Amino acid sequence: MPTPTMQASPPTARLAVNGGTPVSTTPVPFMKPQLHREDIDAAIAVLESGMLRAAARCEELERRFAEMSGARHGLTCSNGTTALQLAYGALFEPGSEILVPAWTYIATVSMVVAAGCTPVFVDCLEDTFQMDPDDAARKVTPRTRGIAATHLYGCPVDIDAFQSLAAKHGLRVVYDAAQSHLARYDGRGIGAFGDAVTYSFYATKNLGTGEGGLLTVNDGALAREVALLRSHGETEKYLHERIGFNYRMNDITGAIGCSRLDRLPDETAARQTAASRYDSVLAGIEGLSAPTATPKAEAVWHLYTVKLDLSRFTCTRDEFCAALKAEGVPTAVHYPRATVDQPALAAWNRHDTPVASSLSERVFCLPMHHALTDEHFRIVEESLRKVAEAYGA
Ligand SMILES: Cc1ncc(COP(=O)(O)O)c(C=O)c1O
Repeated sequence: MPTPTMQASPPTARLAVNGGTPVSTTPVPFMKPQLHREDIDAAIAVLESGMLRAAARCEELERRFAEMSGARHGLTCSNGTTALQLAYGALFEPGSEILVPAWTYIATVSMVVAAGCTPVFVDCLEDTFQMDPDDAARKVTPRTRGIAATHLYGCPVDIDAFQSLAAKHGLRVVYDAAQSHLARYDGRGIGAFGDAVTYSFYATKNLGTGEGGLLTVNDGALAREVALLRSHGETEKYLHERIGFNYRMNDITGAIGCSRLDRLPDETAARQTAASRYDSVLAGIEGLSAPTATPKAEAVWHLYTVKLDLSRFTCTRDEFCAALKAEGVPTAVHYPRATVDQPALAAWNRHDTPVASSLSERVFCLPMHHALTDEHFRIVEESLRKVAEAYGA
């Protein structure tokens, strides 16, 4: 009788970062250049018309974007930061406490400070990365007047929970949707919820115009107030009834926005398909978790953020990402430092948001855009498996 031999498992392929053969020598594009010929033509038409200031194309963008987001009024502005500043300026009294996410882009919080308010940091949830409504409820005080919540990475927060917290305590709510164009919640566009929803059209956003921003609101009086703040409080030519700013968009940007908006629903659907494909890949790899969407939310996946269980690997997140890059998969880290831990916000950090503070060591984003191909998914899947196996604890 021949002695049975053990079936040897195939040796782990040597990582490209250690001199092995990469899965692909052509990297998967992390993002996709977004301008098409028709966008450029739309901008040129405005330049040729000579009407460069905010006019018909900005108004068209306001109307169409608001309608597609489930909101009554849209107001274009110069960027996502000024959109927040306009919303906060119209809704939050200086001196108020405002509940803010500990895990977001800094503008959500820094503009609360710029509005003369006190940011009170709320932790995020481990599985969705979104602001935790239970922690928010614990942090309400008699001085709390508002909530500034981010629909982060393209995924809405638990809007039901935040709206009921707001109703219970009489709070105003601003949702920062800089990363969540056309996201939906409970079957409706996110513009249907809260007092104001703000957007960024920065170059890399799902709808990018270079720089640009927009707010949606449902209250006509609030829309008028925001329009005043946006343009030096001017009620008629050279009559200024409020202190305001110049935070206007221009029609070149408006035209690019309108042109790109035609494609946004299809591009959003492609991102959603890409996220489902990544979900299936990650379900089969120990130690990596796919992002979970909030119940009732339809996310639009501006960023697809993966979490590493570091106890299952012998490497750091940065080493894991360097190995992926060498195989042909570029990644990014959003964010390498939690907002709450930014030096500029140290005065408001009470060190009571442990999930947010620890996420910065454990997350990375995979390439995400509307033009990922079967070949790109193959490269990402093989690379993730190879790197996870090589560094498996
Ligand atoms: C969540 C969030 N809020 C606000 C902003 C600010 O937008 P902008 O860069 O257009 O000022 C960004 C931009 O990255 C963002 O991601």
